[in-house]
Amino acid sequence: MRELTYYVAVSLDGFIAGPNHEFDRFVFEGDHAEWLWNRYPGTAPTAMADAAGLSVDGGPFDTVLMGWNTYSVGLPDSPSPYGHFRQIVFSRNRAPLAGSDGVEFTDRDPVEMIRELKQMPGEGIWLCGGGKLAAALVDEIDRFAFKLNPMLFGDGVRVFGDRSYMPAAVERTDTRAFQSGVVLAEYSRRR
Ligand SMILES: NC(=O)c1ccc[n+]([C@@H]2O[C@H](COP(=O)([O-])OP(=O)(O)OC[C@H]3O[C@@H](n4cnc5c(N)ncnc54)[C@H](OP(=O)(O)O)[C@@H]3O)[C@@H](O)[C@H]2O)c1
Repeated sequence: MRELTYYVAVSLDGFIAGPNHEFDRFVFEGDHAEWLWNRYPGTAPTAMADAAGLSVDGGPFDTVLMGWNTYSVGLPDSPSPYGHFRQIVFSRNRAPLAGSDGVEFTDRDPVEMIRELKQMPGEGIWLCGGGKLAAALVDEIDRFAFKLNPMLFGDGVRVFGDRSYMPAAVERTDTRAFQSGVVLAEYSRRR
């Protein structure tokens, strides 16, 4: 069965963006960048990968899930950011935008939808974010791949939004520390 992986950059205090949705304090350059790309190719917008000469092929994912707020970060310039993947955007009240061909907008219950997607043939499914969508899907997440960044936001968008109670047992599958200060921490859910 296909797995759902929440692969996301996180501050040490558990935020995926600051109070004004800023993320520029995350560390983008350094020895972690190429290594992470090789492990998770395709997890940057197609245009960015093309500009950097990076291949989006050969990774663990063929589908990306985004909440509307995450998707909207790239607007208006990038209405189909991950064209190399199947892109599904959850929104209860937004209509498809010009240029968003190939992006599937849905108002369906994310849990119901992910359970169907997992039954379909294909590669892994990347939960890109954000916190609200992750809160809705937390019980369906099979793998957690957190890029812990050497900084604190103090406030902002929490990694699981406002969800406060979600007991889950996990086991570490890999940890890798980089000179840049970033630590990749990977865990699988214990079923
Ligand atoms: N650090 C990272 O790697 C990373 C990765 C991704 C995102 N982010 C950041 O995360 C922030 C966005 O996260 P967010 O928590 O504000 O929003 P989000 O999860 O991206 O989007 C929330 C929206 O998704 C829609 N939605 C549809 N069904 C839903 C459901 N059942 N539960 C929850 N939402 C549902 C709703 O849109 P409608 O109101 O249209 O119905 C809701 O307002 C941005 O600042 C982004 O930059 C960071």
